[in-house]
Amino acid sequence: MTKKSPLSIAVFVSGTGSNLVSIYNAIQNGHLNAKIALVISNKSTAGGLMFARENNITAIHISPNQYDDMATYTEELLNLLKDHQVELVVLAGYLKIIPTAVVQMYKNKIINIHPALLPSFGGKGLYGKRVHQAVLDHGCKVTGATVHIVDEEYDTGGPVIQECVPVLDDDTVETLASRVLEIEHKILPKTIQLFADGKISIQGRRVFINRDEP
Ligand code: GRF
Repeated sequence: MTKKSPLSIAVFVSGTGSNLVSIYNAIQNGHLNAKIALVISNKSTAGGLMFARENNITAIHISPNQYDDMATYTEELLNLLKDHQVELVVLAGYLKIIPTAVVQMYKNKIINIHPALLPSFGGKGLYGKRVHQAVLDHGCKVTGATVHIVDEEYDTGGPVIQECVPVLDDDTVETLASRVLEIEHKILPKTIQLFADGKISIQGRRVFINRDEP
């Protein structure tokens, strides 16, 4: 059987970029048949942009703040994705909302990683440490990570993969975040591989993973 050509992806980051690194490593180790066509960040100082540059990946700083209006920004963003022949957009710790026109153009082809079990502890303002603090404050016994399809709102699209971790009695925001991050680094590359294999089908909010025939 001939090997499929690698899935061309864009990775959007706002912070450290450890999820970007996990994608990069999965590709390097041969576990993920994808190519990072470009890394985009709304923050010029994002660690993820530095990582991309150090590894010869096209890295672009683009933010709505650089433009007079949203329409021009959206057009630029779409052009970047088109020019790099992006097939799947991966939001990996990206804190800006994706413009509606981009969501529509890439319908069901944008995924996001969220550090909780959605729909709990998601939505505008719930990101990073705030999520884990909210989980602890609520007294939850489990939390986890969700990879979901991106729609026009924050964290509302249908989940593709969710995985749980326990919340321990002596957990702090930091210990919980690091346990969840470990899961994120597993399920994000895994989800991208499912897209690369054409194994994802979507009906409304429900995302199905097509299993191989026995
Ligand atoms: C991760 O917890 C991700 O789920 C969240 O922001 C954090 C980013 O981590 N959205 P990194 O930048 O990939 O290290």
